[in-house]
Amino acid sequence: MDKSLKQKILNISGLEEKELLAEGMESLVFDNGNNTVTKVYLSNDLEYFRRLQNFYNDLVFPDNKIKLPQIINVEQKEGLIFVTEVKLIGKQLKFNELNNKEIEEVLNELLNGLTYLSEIKTDFLKVELILDNRDRALLKTPSNDFKKTLESSLEKAYKMNKNYLNDDIEIDTVYEKLTSNIESLEITKTSLIHGDYFIENVLFSSELKLTSILDFGVMTAFGDHIMDVALSYAFLDMFNELPKLKLKERYMEILKKNYSNSELSKMNFYIAFYSFISATYYMKDKSKKDGHYYWCINNINTE
Ligand SMILES: Nc1ncnc2c1ncn2[C@@H]1O[C@H](COP(=O)(O)OP(=O)(O)O)[C@@H](O)[C@H]1O
Ligand SMILES: [Mg+2]
Repeated sequence: MDKSLKQKILNISGLEEKELLAEGMESLVFDNGNNTVTKVYLSNDLEYFRRLQNFYNDLVFPDNKIKLPQIINVEQKEGLIFVTEVKLIGKQLKFNELNNKEIEEVLNELLNGLTYLSEIKTDFLKVELILDNRDRALLKTPSNDFKKTLESSLEKAYKMNKNYLNDDIEIDTVYEKLTSNIESLEITKTSLIHGDYFIENVLFSSELKLTSILDFGVMTAFGDHIMDVALSYAFLDMFNELPKLKLKERYMEILKKNYSNSELSKMNFYIAFYSFISATYYMKDKSKKDGHYYWCINNINTE
């Protein structure tokens, strides 16, 4: 999270930096010491966090092996939202702190986590289709059809992106190609999609078993499981610090053992789709050649 946002949250809340358990993209996370944590957001959107609470409450799990967040309380005070959750077990890992064998285990566990996700039942999302209904990235459509959601989200991004993405991609050609890809998409397995599944949003035990999956939100939906597979692959080089670890190549070897060629062939589409609709959010990096904006452009251009 950027420094000024962090300072703002600390100032308004009166909470101390030294009590921080973790820092998210949008929230500061405090350990309450009684097996709960409180996540503090600069936001007024009480309704959305209540929706998030309902979403988590409705989930039915295949077993108890992996935990997801459970929201106990949501409160609004002075422009901040305080979300209290059960403290999840496990700790965050970083690829560059692992040896080769550990990396292999963690990549396998990442896929196990995705498989677990796809087995969770969510009546809430089956009806609602998308979790974040604030028209940020995915759009709700009247027919609640996953392909329609992809189509209208893409259309909105196209209209928003038209003027500036043109410097870096042939936007009309890309848009047409992605739209026609949606028409021909064959979806064989629909399930809960996390949408932001990467190493920072999962926790591990000291034996390197994946124990918790967190941070569902803006891209969470009910739809093609392969979208999550594709994004979990793409995110492996989003932070671009570790090209020599060959994370994507190694993860692809694992994917090939678990998915058919026709399933894997949809991955490029989902990566390009995600990049197309999220490039807008990363515009402020545009000046930095290594920023997420160029990660998006690169993904779109290699599709
Ligand atoms: N319920 C929880 N229990 C334990 N740690 C948590 C919990 N929620 C968040 N965290 C820690 O805080 C970090 C940021 O939380 P996250 O949900 O990813 O927030 P953000 O949306 O701000 O990225 C996580 O990566 C994790 O380390
Ligand atoms: Mg996060």
